[in-house]
Amino acid sequence: MNKWIQRGSAEIPNNGGTMKLLQRDQEFSIRLSGIRGELMNSRVHGSEEALAELGCARLGSVADVRVLVGGLGMGFTLAAVLRSVPASAQAVVAELIPEVAEWNRGPLGECAGRPLLDARTRLHLGDVAALVADSRDAFDAILLDVDNGPEGLTQDNNNWLYSAAGLQAMHRAMRPESTLAIWSAGASPLFVIRLKKTGFHTAVHTVRARPGKGSRHTIFVARKGVALQGRS
Ligand SMILES: C[S@@+](CC[C@H](N)C(=O)[O-])C[C@H]1O[C@@H](n2cnc3c(N)ncnc32)[C@H](O)[C@@H]1O
Repeated sequence: MNKWIQRGSAEIPNNGGTMKLLQRDQEFSIRLSGIRGELMNSRVHGSEEALAELGCARLGSVADVRVLVGGLGMGFTLAAVLRSVPASAQAVVAELIPEVAEWNRGPLGECAGRPLLDARTRLHLGDVAALVADSRDAFDAILLDVDNGPEGLTQDNNNWLYSAAGLQAMHRAMRPESTLAIWSAGASPLFVIRLKKTGFHTAVHTVRARPGKGSRHTIFVARKGVALQGRS
């Protein structure tokens, strides 16, 4: 096996440190400076895809749906959205760090099948929080994987998304009978209470990082307007 080679580096806004792209043979790793370590590895993407499958479960045959994905990362969630929605859909992907989009236009893009090139994809370079705050009745699904979950990892600023004010903004940005799905490294009963207080029906799913094995991650599913099946 070859050694890891650095393919790129980016400053994370708001003094968030440095993000690096590394490659070893066909494997890619995105790492954060300091003790935070690996953010993503291209061999581990089961829960990123589950986020899209759970968030878009009802959208397969609905025309003209609009889905917001925040952030791009290695593109696995975006690619799974595109597999779940019809040809008339639009998938808006918000990514804070321009270099991440550049990396996806290079060899990294092969990992998820180059979802940025799909005609249904719209790339929004910027903070997904600002896009949500500016949107009203705009999305049939919002899928968030910008961090470690309700406890931020790359951006302290992301904490707003999980706050009561952030959840209310997402509720406003969503169309009737739409779905919010949020990736998390672990469970958070307090966050579920906050979702319910915002007016969402909730379900909590535990998913594996790899098919049938690997770490267990949590996907919070919150529905606007319709009750959900599952543990809440
Ligand atoms: C864990 S990765 C996402 C992985 C992605 N689900 C996938 O399938 O590859 C998190 C991404 O969110 C981006 N990000 C972090 N905070 C953000 C924000 N506030 N707005 C938009 N993107 C953000 C990071 O730069 C990073 O690319």
